[in-house]
Amino acid sequence: MKIKNLPWIAIAIFAVIIGLYPLLYFFVDMRTSGLLQSKPKAVLNSACWNATFYTHITFGGIALLIGWAQFSANLRQRYINAHRLMGKFYVAAVTLSSVAGLYIAFFATGGLVCVLGFSSLAIIWLISNIKAYITIQRGNILQHQNWMTLNYALTFAAVTLRVFLPLLIMFIFHDFLPAYRVVSWLCWVPNLIVALIIINNRQKNVNTPLN
Ligand code: HEM
Repeated sequence: MKIKNLPWIAIAIFAVIIGLYPLLYFFVDMRTSGLLQSKPKAVLNSACWNATFYTHITFGGIALLIGWAQFSANLRQRYINAHRLMGKFYVAAVTLSSVAGLYIAFFATGGLVCVLGFSSLAIIWLISNIKAYITIQRGNILQHQNWMTLNYALTFAAVTLRVFLPLLIMFIFHDFLPAYRVVSWLCWVPNLIVALIIINNRQKNVNTPLN
């Protein structure tokens, strides 16, 4: 195993663990623990909220599970058709999960701060997904790679949220709500910054603007 592959191995492990996490909602009664506990009855009984919530977590999980493997140059070179097929599944999964995520964001626990944090994330997630798709349809591989780097960094917010939230509760706030408000932004803004740094370094090497 090469040292330079270690970050990718860590990303893959986290992506698989959190990508499978939505399965709990299908096999365990989650109404008595976690997020659903904080929801008003009207939301929990709403058919529209339930449909969008389950769409969001199912396709978000799928996006997280398949996305990381798409970045392997080795796999791309060997199995380009599989990359194309998985890419289409990924784009479809992010489209469904982000639109559903935008809807449920308006009912987020924690009030306006969380509504704004999650809905901004959903919008940037959807736009970067569309951009990544359009650029590859036009044959622009570098721009496609850049938009997908940004997009998967945002998909990874599902992981960073679940890493930061217990840490914020344990070490700083000792309470769920203030930690949840902070994490609704902290789960994705640093990811976005890291993605922009990676893209900027890549751009410097080839010197073409991101469009
Ligand atoms: C990256 C863009 C994403 C946005 C904007 C987003 C948005 C949201 C929102 C608004 C909620 C409800 C929060 C509340 O009502 O307080 C939520 C919950 C949830 N999301 Fe996402 N999400 C994203 C990515 C993902 C991904 C990739 C997964 C895949 C695992 C995922 C899985 C879940 C799960 C399982 C819940 C239920 C809460 C929990 O059990 O922790 N989300 N998401």
